[in-house]
Amino acid sequence: MAFPFLKKNTAQEETGLPEILPKHVAFIMDGNGRWAKKRGMPRKFGHREGAKTFHDITRYCRSIGIQNASFYVFSTENWRRPEEEVDAIMNLLWEYLNDCDEYLEQEVRMIFIGDKSRLPERIRNRMLELEEDSKKYDKMNLILAINYGGRDEITQAARQLAEKAARGEIRPEEITEDTISQHLYTREIPDVDLMIRPSGELRLSNFLIWQCAYAEYYFTDVLWPDFARSELDKALRDFAGRGRRFGGV
Ligand code: FPP
Repeated sequence: MAFPFLKKNTAQEETGLPEILPKHVAFIMDGNGRWAKKRGMPRKFGHREGAKTFHDITRYCRSIGIQNASFYVFSTENWRRPEEEVDAIMNLLWEYLNDCDEYLEQEVRMIFIGDKSRLPERIRNRMLELEEDSKKYDKMNLILAINYGGRDEITQAARQLAEKAARGEIRPEEITEDTISQHLYTREIPDVDLMIRPSGELRLSNFLIWQCAYAEYYFTDVLWPDFARSELDKALRDFAGRGRRFGGV
């Protein structure tokens, strides 16, 4: 498989980034709680700082020509956190969803992956509205995982396919890897090339587990609120130096 190739643009010339950029970068925004604790502040301050980093990294991805950027905002497991923390994240999300003009002006398509049914109605409706308003844009896909779990996503796909089979719309032998991909939330998005997890944890935590089958992983001890543009540059340079064989030789 050929490397995703991107012609240098001005931002790349300025930063000296490699010509080979991943088509899809996924971020696990980890370490917000520890960032706040180190400063003697409640965890929700860490999430607020994390949201600022998210904005900055998103803008940067758009400016250097990353075609698909995914962010793990809230997992299916995060409901187990204290109510105050869940509320703080939902409030940040609501603020963000109402402050997206810049992204639309920049012709960014917004895609929300995850089970929307458990989310507060106002958040769900606003997400659907943004998806609809931005579906004409193609400068970058910004994928936000909210109430998302990789196993949950695969389970939903299996259920949909079983229903189709029961109705006689598909035969079991017709189900391929591609059919399954087409039943995931990410059906319009290419697989992940580069998965970045800050904060020193070395796990995938149920994020895009199907889509990361051939991803390259980049881990750093930096906590997400401190994840500056220069940290992404490092990850992109590291990625450009890896030899990807996709199972070949
Ligand atoms: C993981 O860090 C982070 C989360 C579960 C929430 C991520 C949310 C944001 C960055 C803010 C909201 C984003 C938007 C788009 C408005 P952690 O809390 O597990 O950190 P820890 O491991 O240090 O405790």
